[in-house]
Amino acid sequence: MAYKYADSQGQLADAYPINKLEASDFGKPQDLFSVHGKKYTMKFLSFYVRYSFAHKFFKLRGDETIIELGSGSGFQVELLKKIYPDLTILCFDLPAQLYLCEKYLTNVLGENAVVGSEKGLERTDLHNLEKGKIHLFGNWQFPLLANFKFDIFWNAASFGEMEPEIVANYLSYIKGNFTWAYLMQARNGKESSAESGVVKPILFADYSRMLGQSYSLVCEEDAYDAHRRVSQTGGYFQAVWQNSAK
Ligand SMILES: C[S@@+](CC[C@H](N)C(=O)[O-])C[C@H]1O[C@@H](n2cnc3c(N)ncnc32)[C@H](O)[C@@H]1O
Repeated sequence: MAYKYADSQGQLADAYPINKLEASDFGKPQDLFSVHGKKYTMKFLSFYVRYSFAHKFFKLRGDETIIELGSGSGFQVELLKKIYPDLTILCFDLPAQLYLCEKYLTNVLGENAVVGSEKGLERTDLHNLEKGKIHLFGNWQFPLLANFKFDIFWNAASFGEMEPEIVANYLSYIKGNFTWAYLMQARNGKESSAESGVVKPILFADYSRMLGQSYSLVCEEDAYDAHRRVSQTGGYFQAVWQNSAK
């Protein structure tokens, strides 16, 4: 059913077909299964569903530059690069996640696809970036993006882990520099408890305000994985904003 849901979301979006893609078995994912001889996991299908939603609006050609903040293990990047090998993708994350992401992506896409964090960390500007590669940066290097023009900003289930002023600070470096934003977040703030989480939750309305007047909300809907709502309690949305000044 999850495969059929992903397949139909892809068809509705005129996206690259799911039956031409497959997941990696690196790390021995426990839920690996196969359909028509191709390998899938629930995560892989769910990242395909996110891509399909975004593609409805972005109409990816394959030569775009994408910035992902909080890329986690790199699952979204893996999927996008499997479809569009010429994308240039810059990932920014906290050090431990960045290390994991680099290990994962070099294993599933090959060393040639990735310019590692050791090189990224030395950079003091973004001149002469190798096109068509994945570049890895520490989150504190985000100010390098001031004045850097790119196509898409991507943040999924990550802004909700930050206080609103931290999110506003990240966005202040890139606002106006990009055409499209894809956000998948908890509508009323990520689930927090007394022991963990944020002091002040960031809400759906905060994102439009922080992106500023030049960005218009194009579409938002409840976010689904391939087999369930994203978080039963958190009420996640996925949405796309477009820079109307572009
Ligand atoms: C729940 S994971 C989501 C990962 C991935 N985007 C996904 O959809 O599976 C949250 C991500 O946000 C990152 N993150 C949390 N706080 C951050 C901060 N202050 N600055 C940058 N990244 C942060 C984490 O390191 C992690 O990669």
